[in-house]
Amino acid sequence: MSSYDLIVIGAGPGGYVCAIRAAQLGLKTAVIEGRGTLGGTCLNVGCIPSKALLHASHMFHEAGHNFEKMGLMGEEPSVDWTIMQSYKAETVETNTKGIEFLFKKNKIDWIKGWAEITAPGKVKVGEDSYETKNIVIATGSEPSPLKGVEIDNAGGVIVDSTGALTLPKLPKTMIVIGAGVIGLELGSVYARLGAEVTVIEYLDAVTPGMDAEVQKQFQKILGKQGMKFVLGAAVQSATMTDGTAKVTYKLRKDDSEQTAEADVVLLATGRRPYIEGLGLDKAGVELTDRGQVKIDDHWATSVKGIYAIGDAVPGPMLAHKAEDEGMAVAEIIAGKAGHVNYDVIPSVIYTSPEVASVGLTEAAAKETGRKVKTGKFPFLGNARAKAMFQGDGFVKIVADAETDRILGCHIIGPNAGEMIHEICVAMEFGASAEDVALTCHAHPTTSEAVREAALALGDGPIHV
Ligand code: NAI
Repeated sequence: MSSYDLIVIGAGPGGYVCAIRAAQLGLKTAVIEGRGTLGGTCLNVGCIPSKALLHASHMFHEAGHNFEKMGLMGEEPSVDWTIMQSYKAETVETNTKGIEFLFKKNKIDWIKGWAEITAPGKVKVGEDSYETKNIVIATGSEPSPLKGVEIDNAGGVIVDSTGALTLPKLPKTMIVIGAGVIGLELGSVYARLGAEVTVIEYLDAVTPGMDAEVQKQFQKILGKQGMKFVLGAAVQSATMTDGTAKVTYKLRKDDSEQTAEADVVLLATGRRPYIEGLGLDKAGVELTDRGQVKIDDHWATSVKGIYAIGDAVPGPMLAHKAEDEGMAVAEIIAGKAGHVNYDVIPSVIYTSPEVASVGLTEAAAKETGRKVKTGKFPFLGNARAKAMFQGDGFVKIVADAETDRILGCHIIGPNAGEMIHEICVAMEFGASAEDVALTCHAHPTTSEAVREAALALGDGPIHV
């Protein structure tokens, strides 16, 4: 029987990063992964393939809408869905192979199969048993089902986020259930590729939890791109007849029942921890009342020597949050101090324009009882953004009115997902808005809009 210092269950961003850090710190490490390739949901059926489709569809949209304005003439491009699918598959393959290379480089064993924890320190994969001093559960999440909606990813008509990446053909019409991150990212892919996309959302705004001004602007911009929204509507069911899907929903304002039809329905109403078959009950690992693995401040479960990270535990379901937890728990197991600052976890929606945020929204900052001030700067005042036809959107910084300390930042605009990190670093160092305002920013860059928003919290921005 092989024995290890650490067995990580799951090779997604949480698990593989944890394993690499553990190996770097001298622990004899193995990862158990049942999927045929490493990288988990993110690399195989999540972040990476969706980003390939977002990039390709963005290019197509640019070619159709902005090329002529820049004097780039020629026949309008058309979409070859088969080639776009192969480009997506190649992007996934180079990344998953990259993790295999890193495992070999760091002498991490990949045990292929599905793990079951039979007792603390004991894991079974098929007929084989392994002993280990520590276990990290990094099994991630799966799409949450919705009553009345039967997913058939292979059929390609009523699908979840996995099926939406491999539709057999481009739909002419699509209904997205849920205006969260997945619904809007994948919905905008198909809208840009020519589908008429309608998003049905239970709440009265898109992207729950985001800054209210960003939510409004985001919906407006997506609307201009052709996406339609039915807000305040609870989907009751989605059924298929003769290859067409029918969605029934109830409007919350008057309880009236409505129906809509489309070629494809994408269910994107959230994800839930994936812990099936792990044997957690037998091992005595406690769960929260929401079905997540219960952990303490150091990612330790209720059973000594068993830890859990990523989407399987409470907190935002984000690959980079899982990666940070993976590194931190590896350090703790190796006897060092591992730490994650949950106040500074950025989140990004990779639509065009991108939406990025970190820290508190204006509303959440006010709820803490402190005096709050906000500084805003529109991309219309940013030369670089305008040169790229991306003057829509703004940067908004939320700061403490008394100390000027930055509490959060919300960006909708070009490169938002990259620019947000300036504020993440500033927040890690406890910076004031003035610190950012006094920092020289290269011209012409979209990052100048971040500085201008910081200036707006002092004596005022220059370019509005
Ligand atoms: P979500 O929780 O972000 O959004 C789901 C939406 O569905 C909510 O707005 C909710 O009000 C709505 N909804 C729920 N039941 C409904 C019903 N019956 N009828 C109509 N609307 C209904 O979930 P989503 O988009 O599926 O994402 C799951 C997780 O994956 C999230 O935690 C997200 O952060 C993460 N993720 C992050 C990405 C990123 O960071 N770029 C990309 C993809 C996923």
